[in-house]
Amino acid sequence: MNFLRDQLKEFGYSYLPNTSEDDLKTHLNQLGNIIDETDVIAKSDSKSLVTSDKYLDFHTDNHLAKYIVWHCKVQAKEGGISLLCDAESVFERLTNEEKKELSGIHVYEHKMYPENRNSNPIVKTVDGENNFYYSFWLAREKYRELPVFKKWRELIQNANHIRILLNVNDVLIIDNHRILHGRTEIIGERYLKRYWLNPEYLPTRKLYSQT
Ligand SMILES: [Fe+2]
Repeated sequence: MNFLRDQLKEFGYSYLPNTSEDDLKTHLNQLGNIIDETDVIAKSDSKSLVTSDKYLDFHTDNHLAKYIVWHCKVQAKEGGISLLCDAESVFERLTNEEKKELSGIHVYEHKMYPENRNSNPIVKTVDGENNFYYSFWLAREKYRELPVFKKWRELIQNANHIRILLNVNDVLIIDNHRILHGRTEIIGERYLKRYWLNPEYLPTRKLYSQT
């Protein structure tokens, strides 16, 4: 174990201000295989959710990404604050019955890699740990109507969020199986380099890019 992994294990995220390219490389090496590298450029004329300039609701990325690393290249003139929500602490506020119900709700997953499933449960237990997968807009209508889903969503919206404004060269790392992420609306243009990593696994090939 090292400092970064320890921090991710304890808090689910790590914020590393003003990080050099060399240090970034070291961190990436510690976290495992890079399964995707994307320039996330948010601008007004984009039709894609990820690259639009609008407020982005809390979600997880592709489930094969255990960690997400963002490296800020250009920050927006206004807005663009990264929002994090610890799904673990939200989950703890549900009753045992609700927890069980939530594990039965599946959310659609884009097939970016051959190993992706068609969907993942919002929560499942892997090696004694909760793994979360959630996007409101990828959940089917019939699930959105369920009281437990509504409660889950409401708890997320009203939770204590971590708000971080990334400056140029700052790095933010999250455990994508635990921390939900979103961001406030962006005014101007913002450019983040995003890496997806998985310590144990390398997909056979990539089918398409999400952005
Ligand atoms: Fe995302």
